This record gives sequence, C-alpha cells and structure tokens, in this order.
Amino acid sequence: LHDQPAELYSTFRLKTRLATVIEVSCLADLEQIDTASSTPLVLGEGSNTIFLEAQTRPIVRYTGANTTENWLDDNSCLLHVEAGHNWHQLVTLAVQQQLWGIENLALIPGSVGAAPVQNIGAYGVELADVCAYVEYFHWQTKRLQRLTTSECNFGYRDSVFKHQLAGKGIIVAVGLNLTTIARPVLSYQGLDKLPATSAVSDIYQQVIATRSNKLPDYRQLANCGSFFKNPVISSAEYQRLHQLYPTIPGFKQNSNQVKVPAAWLIDQQGFKGYRNNDIGCYEKQPLVLVNYGNGSASDLLTLISQIQSKVKQIYRITLEPEVRLLNSDGQQYV
Ligand code: EPU
Repeated sequence: LHDQPAELYSTFRLKTRLATVIEVSCLADLEQIDTASSTPLVLGEGSNTIFLEAQTRPIVRYTGANTTENWLDDNSCLLHVEAGHNWHQLVTLAVQQQLWGIENLALIPGSVGAAPVQNIGAYGVELADVCAYVEYFHWQTKRLQRLTTSECNFGYRDSVFKHQLAGKGIIVAVGLNLTTIARPVLSYQGLDKLPATSAVSDIYQQVIATRSNKLPDYRQLANCGSFFKNPVISSAEYQRLHQLYPTIPGFKQNSNQVKVPAAWLIDQQGFKGYRNNDIGCYEKQPLVLVNYGNGSASDLLTLISQIQSKVKQIYRITLEPEVRLLNSDGQQYV
C-alpha cells in the first residue's frame, strides 16, 4: 500500500502520510521483503506509536492471527498466538475458556506482537508473568529465533526488543502459559474489593469497567494510553519529596527504589483537562494525552515539554515518554 494516511495506522491520529505499508500474514511473505535498501519499521495496531512527520521508511505489519492450544497437562495450556491477533480479543478468548493469566490485561489496545515489546502491564500483572517465549524473525539472516522469557529481558515497560533487537526484525508469535487453576491477582486499586473467590470472568469484567471509567476509548477520542512511564526514583530522593509533599504516592520497588505515579505529578501541576489547541491532558487521567481531532505534532511537542519542564522544575524528576514518537525516517524522537 502506498501513500497512506497515518490516521489509519496510529490511534493518536496526527495527520500525516506513510510512504509504504507492507502487510504480511506468513513467514514466506516476510522472507520476500527487501530489507537491504532500507530497514523496515514494524507496526502493530498503532496504539503506542505516534507519527510526528511523514514516514519515508517502509512499514511492515504482520497480520497472521492464528492461535494453537498445547495442553501440557490437565491444567496447563501453552497458547501459541500469531502476532497479528488483537490483544483484547485474545484475553476474551482465554476468559471464555476459563483460562487464567491474562484477565487483568483486558481492554489493553493493540496486537499480540506488540505486547512483549513494552511488556504490557496493568492491575498488577505484566505480560512477562505469563510469557513462555517470543518468536522473532531476523531481517538480516531471515531466520526465526525463539527467545525464552529470560532472553526477552523484560522490565517495567521494557524488553530486549527495545534495545539489542530494536530494528533488527519482527515478532511473529508469542507463547503464553495459561492455567485452569484459579490465580486471582486482586491487589491493585480497583480490583481490591473483589472477593478472593472471584471467577476469571468477574475479574475480566471489573478490569473492563475500571478502564472504561478512567481511560478514553481511542475510537472516540484519539490517544495512546499512558503517555509517560511512571518514574522510578531512589528511596532517598523519595524521602526528600515526601517531606516537601506529604501526599506524594510511592510504590516501593525494592530496598532502594520507589515508583511514583506520573499521573499524580502531572495532576498536581494542574494539567488535568489542560489543552494546547487540539492536544490536551485527558480530564479523568492526565497521564493520557489526547488529540481532539486536529492536533498537530508541534502542539503535541509543546505540551510534552510543558509537562516535562514543570515536573522537572518542581520535583527534579525527568518524565520519559512511554509511547514511541517517530520522526520522518522512523527514528525515535525523545
Ligand atoms: N493519579 C492522580 N490523578 C489522576 C489519576 C491518577 O493523582 O487523575 C495518581 C493516583 O495516586 C493513583 C496513581 O496516580 O493512585 C496511579 O493511577 P492509575 O492507577 O490510574 O495508574 P497509572 O500508574 O497512571 C498504570 C499504567 C497503565 C495501567 C494502569 C493500571 C503506566 C505508565 N501506566 O497507570 O497502563 O492501565 O497503571 O494498572 O505504567 C498504558 O501503559 O498505556 C497504561 C494505560
């Protein structure tokens, strides 16, 4: 496909153009792609990618979406899912079959193939908790590699696919360890009122209700979910901030690190519902930046730097974007 409107390929819907979009549904098609003249940019459903400028690099989307169940014993199911499957539909499928493991990740937009890249997470569960392996096709060797969970190097919104393997190939399938044995994760705010005996479908429904209540639906209001990562700071720095701002929330990561909600930092600085032309901070969750329709890249970049400099000035914390912001040649804009 040539000269495509970027709005069709990114849920933030900035108006620009994509020179070439190549959609493939099997390995044989991937092998045909010429990657020597220019390295392709890999895209899923565009729910975490923003095109700031027209793209010259070819974009590749893997659309194969088959799933295969492999029962390891009476209770353990290893689900092999092709990258093009929609993530939420997969969660729904698992819940319908009474399989536990990904119910807390309901309603996260995007494709299965994108899930490992930033190790999607919500309500106390991350992809890493259930990921058995990731199948990765290397552009250069045209070989398929199966990475184990530990080789994926998962971290908070992080993985090997953002570092050593960035731009080197494309994820074609993911293996997930699911189980028929109940394993509710109800610790997170929003789920903590549910009884420990909750069925997998109860948790799934509660996650959907909580998310729909707080987060805008990108079909109605263009957005890419949380815009910045929650910063992790030293315990000493957290103590300093706590003295100054006694209500600052903090979630202990280990003995010397604390995660601070970016939403709180942004909210405290009065950004809830703030608008810079057609780009703004969502009124119910200011960590989510939204495009009211005709937002431009420059409006967005201005808002990003307004938020970053305010938070830096007041709290000495650097907020890093969680979404992928791309320049014309597909290079990451930081
Ligand atoms: N808060 C405010 N004002 C608000 C909203 C939140 O001050 O308007 C503060 C509160 O202290 C609240 C805290 O921020 O307790 C955390 O808020 P919330 O539970 O909404 O979660 P979050 O940290 O903002 C993270 C993920 C979300 C995920 C939710 C639920 C990141 C960057 N974001 O958001 O993921 O759905 O937890 O688990 O880690 C995404 O990555 O796109 C995403 C939506």
